[in-house]
Amino acid sequence: METNEYLKKMRNDFSRQSLSKKEVEKNPFDQFKKWLDEAVRTNEPEAIATCVSTVSKYGQPSSRIVYIRDIDENGFVFFTNYGSKKGSDILINPKASMNLFWPGLERQIRIEGIIERVADEVSDAYFNDRPKSSQIGAWASHQSAKLSSRKELEDRIAALNEQYADVPVPRPENWGGFILVPHYFEFWQGRPSRLHDRVDFSKTETD
Ligand SMILES: Cc1cc2nc3c(=O)[nH]c(=O)nc-3n(C[C@H](O)[C@H](O)[C@H](O)COP(=O)(O)O)c2cc1C
Repeated sequence: METNEYLKKMRNDFSRQSLSKKEVEKNPFDQFKKWLDEAVRTNEPEAIATCVSTVSKYGQPSSRIVYIRDIDENGFVFFTNYGSKKGSDILINPKASMNLFWPGLERQIRIEGIIERVADEVSDAYFNDRPKSSQIGAWASHQSAKLSSRKELEDRIAALNEQYADVPVPRPENWGGFILVPHYFEFWQGRPSRLHDRVDFSKTETD
């Protein structure tokens, strides 16, 4: 089938499960963890990958995938280069959203909130736990900046590998964690005939 024809004809009927207000957890973080546990247990590919959208100083939204590396009572932590496109967007406008889609479970989660930098000690602890090749990569990659060639990056890596051959790699100052602190969640369960179930949570002054 031609791709254009496929675009018009493709129909997936979602029919595995349902979702109602009665069955969701009281706390949206608990609901998130319950669904994430199920996604991991059922081998959803890239279950911890989330689309993060930020907005530039010109009001232009931009999206990319990152891995959620921690969840605490405040929010969702991911690690990146602070000088990247997303890093500079967040510096100017901390409002952001996240979106996860688990096709095997026919589920989507949508989250909106404010992004903050995590404490340096949190970034240090995570960085020190990464494989050496990833630590070198964090130094070598000036994320979102243009390269003249791939060789430029490979040369940088070779030089860094030599520099840190026998010593631990310190965390670059411009690499670390962000936490998205949510004030809105939506849990989406696909249902037949596009009549999907959606349950949302909004933060209020008291709850
Ligand atoms: C599955 C997957 C996981 C990724 N995880 C991360 C991550 O945890 N941190 C990160 O900075 N980039 C990650 N990336 C790369 C980003 O999508 C993106 O290319 C990069 O962060 C630069 O984005 P920016 O130029 O918008 O800042 C991941 C990409 C994919 C496809």
